[in-house]
Amino acid sequence: MVKIAPSLLAADFSCLAEEVKKVEEAGADWLHFDVMDGHFVPNLTMGPQIVQSLRKKSRLFFDVHLMIENPDRYLEMFASAGADLLTVSAEACTHLHRVVQMIHKLGLKAGVALNPATPLSCLEYLLDDLDLVLIMSVNPGFGGQKFIPSTLKKLQQLKKMVGDRQIEIQVDGGINKDTAPLVIEAGATVLVAGTAIFAQNNIVQAIKMLQTEKKKL
Ligand code: DX5
Ligand code: ZN
Repeated sequence: MVKIAPSLLAADFSCLAEEVKKVEEAGADWLHFDVMDGHFVPNLTMGPQIVQSLRKKSRLFFDVHLMIENPDRYLEMFASAGADLLTVSAEACTHLHRVVQMIHKLGLKAGVALNPATPLSCLEYLLDDLDLVLIMSVNPGFGGQKFIPSTLKKLQQLKKMVGDRQIEIQVDGGINKDTAPLVIEAGATVLVAGTAIFAQNNIVQAIKMLQTEKKKL
């Protein structure tokens, strides 16, 4: 069964602890923190403080998506704040392999995110060191955007590249009840969703909807 990672970016920031409790009780597997610095992406969102305060309130797996320039400067802060996995953007790291090593040295799982236009080839000499690859299905920076269709081919190619390695294939952006079955079929194992979960009245149903595999015709 695919894992569902609600993106906190779409939650009500005036009551984050309650929002996290809602998705945890509704059956979410991970909690996705969209960290943005206003440089790598044109938006500013949250830092290690938010991770730290919510760590005391939740047993979910904390999946921290660092959409920031030179993330190596902040790995330690997010690790001590209680992150379980840190995903860095390939395009934001001068020494990507070293950043992955640093994340592992901190005892965390390591992921690399690729923007929609970035080819899979940049993972060729890194794949054996990764726990997760995040395929961005929107241009990073905002929730509520439209799913980019070329993501499906990219997911299929990544699934082939991964082979039988134990690597999560995560997809992020514009995931909803229509796109979820398509990305699952293409090979995604972790679905990030913000609007499709937090903007819904029935969160339990919203999460269940995303977990359904494509109806076999
Ligand atoms: C975009 C973020 C995504 C986004 C997903 O930069 O990485 O996680 O919040 O939001 P929805 O699910 O609303 O597209
Ligand atoms: Zn994200």
